[in-house]
Amino acid sequence: MVAFPAGRKGQPGVAERAIAGWLKPQQRRLPLYFPYVQALSQLQPAWQQAAQTVLGYLEAGETVVFASEGDVSFYSTFTYLAQSLLQLQPAAQVEAVPGVCSPLAAAAVLGQPLTVQGQRLTVLPALYCASDLETVLTWADVVVLLKVSSVYRQVWQILHRCKLLRHSYIVERATTEHQIVYADLRAYPDLQLPYFSILIVQNQIRQFQVAALPCPQ
Ligand SMILES: C[S@@+](CC[C@H](N)C(=O)[O-])C[C@H]1O[C@@H](n2cnc3c(N)ncnc32)[C@H](O)[C@@H]1O
Repeated sequence: MVAFPAGRKGQPGVAERAIAGWLKPQQRRLPLYFPYVQALSQLQPAWQQAAQTVLGYLEAGETVVFASEGDVSFYSTFTYLAQSLLQLQPAAQVEAVPGVCSPLAAAAVLGQPLTVQGQRLTVLPALYCASDLETVLTWADVVVLLKVSSVYRQVWQILHRCKLLRHSYIVERATTEHQIVYADLRAYPDLQLPYFSILIVQNQIRQFQVAALPCPQ
């Protein structure tokens, strides 16, 4: 059984589309329904229901894989599904297969390293903490913002104040056929970004400060 998060409005989801070309005829598809909300009161019953569905197949002797965008250990629904499954059946065997997470996919698309040498990298799930960006920029050399679409205007204003728009990049739908790259965000205060967008800030101001430090003896 090949499980994946069901898409919206009857359309195939991102993970399902990514794996579609590799599925064999004998592999059956199992869309699992997870609401696109933040409320735990709605998410928890969905995780439990999905885990129950998976457990039903495991008890029938099937093997179930769960396809996820990027890496399954990086802000992934897989974590909640696996935890819920193990609560229902502690003896269930769960294995994580590593994938390429979106910051690294975006760096490859941009043709730039994400980090070098002693640079400090910070990842912010911006939807929950966009206002922390300014503080983080006082010490991080590279900042990656996930879940940035709904707070993009606020993020743009902060980058504007910090004079970092020129050193910021967005990759929409990295590594898919609909991928779009924006480099130098000064001209883009009002982008309507899709959920699968990532923003990378190369904090040049701090990088110059670090470069100016005397080398340790
Ligand atoms: C719930 S997190 C999932 C992260 C994913 N597990 C990973 O390894 O990247 C969803 C966020 O990841 C980012 N994301 C995931 N895939 C992406 C892609 N192909 N292109 C751009 N951003 C992506 C977006 O910021 C999106 O809002």
